[in-house]
Amino acid sequence: MTPMVSASVDTAALHHNLQVVRRWAPRSRVMAVIKANAYGHGLVAVARALKSADSFAVARVDEGLTLRQAGIDTPTVLLEGVFDREQLDAAAAAHFELVVHTPEQIELLRAAAAGIRFKVWLKLDSGMNRLGFKGGAFDLALAALRDLAAVQSPVNLFTHLASADTPELHATTDQLARFAAATGSLPGERSIVNSAGMLSFPQAQADWVRPGLLLYGVSPFADSIGADYDLTPAMTLHSHVIAVKELVPGERVGYGGDWTAARPTILAVAAIGYGDGYPRNLGSGAPVLVNAERAVLAGRVSMDMIGIDVTDLRRTPVLGDPVVLWGAGLPVEEIAVWADTIPYELLCGISQRVAVDLR
Ligand SMILES: Cc1ncc(COP(=O)(O)O)c(C=O)c1O
Repeated sequence: MTPMVSASVDTAALHHNLQVVRRWAPRSRVMAVIKANAYGHGLVAVARALKSADSFAVARVDEGLTLRQAGIDTPTVLLEGVFDREQLDAAAAAHFELVVHTPEQIELLRAAAAGIRFKVWLKLDSGMNRLGFKGGAFDLALAALRDLAAVQSPVNLFTHLASADTPELHATTDQLARFAAATGSLPGERSIVNSAGMLSFPQAQADWVRPGLLLYGVSPFADSIGADYDLTPAMTLHSHVIAVKELVPGERVGYGGDWTAARPTILAVAAIGYGDGYPRNLGSGAPVLVNAERAVLAGRVSMDMIGIDVTDLRRTPVLGDPVVLWGAGLPVEEIAVWADTIPYELLCGISQRVAVDLR
């Protein structure tokens, strides 16, 4: 049975995008960021498709364990580290690498059972004020980690950029200067940049780049799309037409009757809504592809349905015709602008009832 709504994920696109990332950062290894169900694309399936990445990064222990349970043994970094003894033991058994960003995490490592040894990434808070040690606390944390049997030598060095997607701001150069000052000539591998940082600050690519969004074929910048960087969108969100009707001028569409036909109108109803993760705040006029032609949203997004003004299409749609909400032919970056959000949120936000289908 064909699902009414599906997100098809193009594995060839994932491969291609990884190659593009390698071209942009030829001297760095690639830590592929596949947290949050690989940005909605399917954690295990994406990990299998990107098995030539040098390592994976996930946010949480359970995401990493899902990879191991699927037989994926690629080195995997826990971007938030571990928070209790149980997580530490699970992370040790799974051979995860740990980001360390609090004194409590150092104490957990101090109390680790004999024989446990982690590759550790010490995180500097270089200005984002989210995770990491600042200034003198960073030096103390490094000294403490160097003394611990549970920590492999050397300790590796990590930070995260807050504003790499707006490179004209000084924030990133300030962060890079703080990272350089704190890490100087210390031994250890370094990892600084996400997708936007990798593109805008090639001098900061260091030993490991940490792209997420680029791998999915999407631009991290507000004024461009993935194709501008030779990327191919990996996810296409599909639905179908489930009703077609004719409206006379003055008739209203959807909850609240927000949209009024200004002319004799052909309206297609498609099976997609906020219950699938299609954003409710998309306004009338947002683009939708019906039979690969651009049409526009008419009226409010419901839980399971949308109305589409298809009057101007070359062929009047019939029941079952394909509808694309974003992806191939309709950049998710464009939909994000209409929805006043970022592509990350749209991709991560597709709901459980959407069948993710790897091709
Ligand atoms: C620490 C860290 N590094 C890298 C990334 C990847 O970011 P992007 O998808 O913008 O490349 C993230 C994602 O949020 C992150 O939290």
